Amino acid sequence: MQSIGIDAVAVWSGKLKLDLPGTFAAVNNEDPEKYTVGLGLSASSLPDSYEDIVTMGANAAYRLLSRTDTSLSAIGRIDVATESAFDNSKPVSTYIGGCLESVMEGTVRHVDKGERKFACLSGTQCLNDAYNWIAADRNRGRAALVISTDTALYARGDAGEATQGAGAVAMLVDADPDLVAFSHERGIGSMDETDFLKPNQQFPSVDGKRSVQVYLARMREALEDFKAQTGPLHPEHFAYGPFHTPYPGMVRKAAVLAFRNTVRGTALGDQLTEEIGPQPTRAAFETEDEYIEAIRAYTDELADTEAYRRWYTERIEPTLRISSQVGNWYTSSVHLARISALLDAADHDRTLTGDRLLVGSYGSGAEAEIHAETVQPGWKDAIGSVAVESMLDRRREITFDEYERVHATHNHDSEVEMEPLTTPSEEFVFDGWGPMGERQYRFVS
Ligand code: COA
Repeated sequence: MQSIGIDAVAVWSGKLKLDLPGTFAAVNNEDPEKYTVGLGLSASSLPDSYEDIVTMGANAAYRLLSRTDTSLSAIGRIDVATESAFDNSKPVSTYIGGCLESVMEGTVRHVDKGERKFACLSGTQCLNDAYNWIAADRNRGRAALVISTDTALYARGDAGEATQGAGAVAMLVDADPDLVAFSHERGIGSMDETDFLKPNQQFPSVDGKRSVQVYLARMREALEDFKAQTGPLHPEHFAYGPFHTPYPGMVRKAAVLAFRNTVRGTALGDQLTEEIGPQPTRAAFETEDEYIEAIRAYTDELADTEAYRRWYTERIEPTLRISSQVGNWYTSSVHLARISALLDAADHDRTLTGDRLLVGSYGSGAEAEIHAETVQPGWKDAIGSVAVESMLDRRREITFDEYERVHATHNHDSEVEMEPLTTPSEEFVFDGWGPMGERQYRFVS
């Protein structure tokens, strides 16, 4: 079977930066360590007044196509993943297609376009749609352009305000890819949940604590479903584990559970049994509460072992590199984790070709998906040209007063308008409203 996966990626960050442990914690009278230690976040990326999901998505896509010298005629579908859409009918991909046509030769007239919704999961679902389309040989030799783009803003005063972010990732999915190839197997854990939703409203209704529990439960089910197809897994069979990262502290919780699950029945598991005793099993306890108490205590002890700490430092922590600087980018967050891992490997000059990644995606509502990816021979060149951190370094840091105005400007129910805080250059910008209430865009040279 031909290999299908991600050929190239590009990232576009919102151009403003809010210092969380500094500016945000100080105004809210919070301990900065809630951010640096608890959540694992140093800053949020936020959109300037001329940025939105279309500009960020179009800028990421334009960057990707220009850098890889890919013409519009080489694209057969444009799928956008977002949970920040502003239109219940016209998909964001049509706006982005229009933007690209305005500056590139050729058209996207014969390109299939859509928009996928499943909270933060839909970027991964778009990748899977592209995989199926190519595997079914319906692509006529063309690649799929998958774009995840979000302005992850919460209502002022909501606990989620601590984990905001804004940005986009564009990915080219093709046969014989340069970066990573997807596994045929996918594990799913899905259940009707109300942990996070936006019933025709801009800012989410979120039960943050519950969403953490649902994330962990669905992720475990997805892992079991994946193992049912692949057979037993070993934590050290994967070079990195990029997971959905609403904030790095969430991944810390998920990682130890994934380690506990996959180490069972391995030689490393036997070694850990000698060190801290066997993993508790339900059958050994009279009540569910006693079992939960025992498994919690065991998991805390496991997280303290040398074997776990080494595994986490080498294979999980590097995946948090970008997220810790930008906050939650919803549909893009797991894709930032993959990029972070590959950047780490490139920085350490690792030989990664043929190694595998265990990729865990999650969307509230809720569904988790786990698949594996095999790193391809062209990965180092493909990731070397992404230049995400230089873009993050160029963000303009904002004061709390500016943050309040930025938030209000992007609030659909507010009349507040503000002058931009940065100067756009070589990018798409929001250019006001058209006669049918449509948002309009132009390219600034
Ligand atoms: N030093 C070290 N750690 C600290 C700290 C300090 N001074 N102050 C707080 N912390 C820790 C807390 O113990 C907590 O860690 P824990 O979850 O392991 O217990 C963490 O920092 C966050 O603090 P908390 O008081 O729980 O923050 P919060 O009430 O602002 O809520 C979220 C955090 C993530 C629940 C909230 O931001 C949210 O609702 N986010 C949106 C939903 C979301 O992202 N869900 C994730 C699943 S997709």
